[in-house]
Amino acid sequence: MAFVGKGGSGKTTLSALFARYAASRGGSVVAVDADINQHLGMALGMEDGALPRPMGSHLTEIKEYLRGDNPRISSASAMVKTTPPGRGSRLLHLDEGDDPIHSRFAVTTPEGPRLMVTGPFDEDDLGVACYHSKVGAVELYLNHLIDGAGEYVVVDMTAGADSFASGLFTRFDMTFLVAEPTRQGVGVYRQYRDYAADYGVPIAVVGNKVHGPGDVAFLRDEVGDDLLVCLEHSAAIRAMEQGRPFTLRDLEPANALALGRLLDRLDAQEKDWARFGDQAALFHLRNAKAWANRATGEDLAAQIDPGFVFGPTRVSLSG
Ligand SMILES: Nc1ncnc2c1ncn2[C@@H]1O[C@H](COP(=O)(O)OP(=O)(O)O)[C@@H](O)[C@H]1O
Ligand SMILES: [Mg+2]
Repeated sequence: MAFVGKGGSGKTTLSALFARYAASRGGSVVAVDADINQHLGMALGMEDGALPRPMGSHLTEIKEYLRGDNPRISSASAMVKTTPPGRGSRLLHLDEGDDPIHSRFAVTTPEGPRLMVTGPFDEDDLGVACYHSKVGAVELYLNHLIDGAGEYVVVDMTAGADSFASGLFTRFDMTFLVAEPTRQGVGVYRQYRDYAADYGVPIAVVGNKVHGPGDVAFLRDEVGDDLLVCLEHSAAIRAMEQGRPFTLRDLEPANALALGRLLDRLDAQEKDWARFGDQAALFHLRNAKAWANRATGEDLAAQIDPGFVFGPTRVSLSG
């Protein structure tokens, strides 16, 4: 799942709180910082020096592992962010923490969630296009992940509609759009909703920094039934932001209940592996045409394996 929305709306804060909450309920949780401004580690209570190795700086290593011996992928350099898994690819599981992706790129944070990061946008990045290639590590990770019930990957995304630059926004079972009760907050929602609707991407609005019933009524009027729940403006979050020690137990009961509503909503969402697989192919073909064929000198459409089925393997009992 992902938290998206306007810059400053509370994506990072809610990603961290939700990740802590889901872990406290026994979930296996990986939180992924995919924002240009990398603050998720801090929001999860990590010291700067304890952050994991950035995935965005080790793309070749990640591709080398994931491609396994998939014969359709000739080399790591022919593997682009949208290259889907096929037979021979290595798939990832949250319950088997011993694969080299999780063991080399994830660290465990104080309240339980594991953290992975794309890494910061740095001086060497030649413009925002380079940042998008770092975020490609997240797209590859999600495409190769076989997740099940009680397992949560929480992605803290870049602001606003930047996410549409790739297929990344279609990789989630549920997208929570964080909106403050303002016209701007609601504006981002409308833009996202229209785009998401074309791809059957489920979204729900999470009101944030709400002060009282007037704010809730405003959001209800503007977004209707898409409004799932609201978090109140929180003294505990403010105190955390001021550097005071914070754990989930410090959160106001109403806000903790709201996190519970998010978890329930997510658990109620059936995973649509068919959509997941179809859109992996769709965005890969688009990407191949737009630049990747030219960049690699190969016809990357051939990387799509028609015999590969996304989702958990069905073990045949009859042998
Ligand atoms: N419910 C809340 N109550 C109080 N402050 C909040 C709340 N949600 C977010 N904030 C504060 O708002 C600011 C922006 O939040 P942040 O999560 O960094 O936004 P984003 O990631 O969307 O840019 C931060 O200072 C954060 O502490
Ligand atoms: Mg943020």
